[in-house]
Amino acid sequence: MTVDPDSVAAIIRDVARDEILPRYNTLEAHEVRSKSHPGDLVTAADEAAEAALATRLRALLPGSVVVGEEGTAADPRLLDRLKEDAPVWVLDPVDGTRNFAHGVPRFAVMVALVRGGDTVCGWILDPVADVLYVAEQGAGSWREGKRIRVSPARGPEALVGATGYRHAKLFKPHGIRTRQSGSAAHDYMQASDGRVDFAVFRRRLNPWDHAAGALIHHEAGGFGRTVDGDSYRPGDREGDHLILAPDEDTWSRIRDILLPHVRGEKG
Ligand code: IPD
Ligand code: CA
Ligand code: CA
Repeated sequence: MTVDPDSVAAIIRDVARDEILPRYNTLEAHEVRSKSHPGDLVTAADEAAEAALATRLRALLPGSVVVGEEGTAADPRLLDRLKEDAPVWVLDPVDGTRNFAHGVPRFAVMVALVRGGDTVCGWILDPVADVLYVAEQGAGSWREGKRIRVSPARGPEALVGATGYRHAKLFKPHGIRTRQSGSAAHDYMQASDGRVDFAVFRRRLNPWDHAAGALIHHEAGGFGRTVDGDSYRPGDREGDHLILAPDEDTWSRIRDILLPHVRGEKG
């Protein structure tokens, strides 16, 4: 059984409208708490949005199961469902929760449909801009109904990347500029429609942070591999740093800068 990508998009938009946007800039102190460390936040919006998405997406595809960020925080064994045969909805109800909780409008909802360990469809919604990105395996990537492409190949002096704060300093000596969005979803959107040329994600690749975006970037013509040169799969939680680039040459250039540092670092 297949799903209609537009039906999923409508569900994501409904949930963002009903559960996320009304809580933006209106959260009360008791609606924000930390999980694994003080900077790792969860809000009432994350929890309500994940619950609503899970209910509606399970109903849309009978027999499907859900692996969501917040459900997995409560029960890490849910991740094993990615190895099962049933279709799996992978959910990041609010990506960029720190931004969301601090009134910074860079957050998004990410949904991926995984079958047999492969991502077959991915959706990212920027609820503030009301812009949706979607990709289906083999059918390209689309932003609001228009086909998107990664950036054209450029020399190093023209490259702009999306990285975390920790990696930004590695690129400066090479004359390569970087931006920090605080949201993996925004990094994937920017790398997939050519607003940035490359992106770097740290190891510990949670499926909800990467499954939808990796497919959207791939279907937009991008070249995404871990520093070891492996393709990303949503079951690869222990995988190494992931680099997105418009082509293999740019990927190699970024990998050569990153590799000595990631081999020396623990986290
Ligand atoms: C986080 C954001 C952040 C990235 C972290 C993610 P969350 O997701 O995408 O940019 O650096 O690795 O965990 O917690 O806001 O959903
Ligand atoms: Ca996330
Ligand atoms: Ca999240």
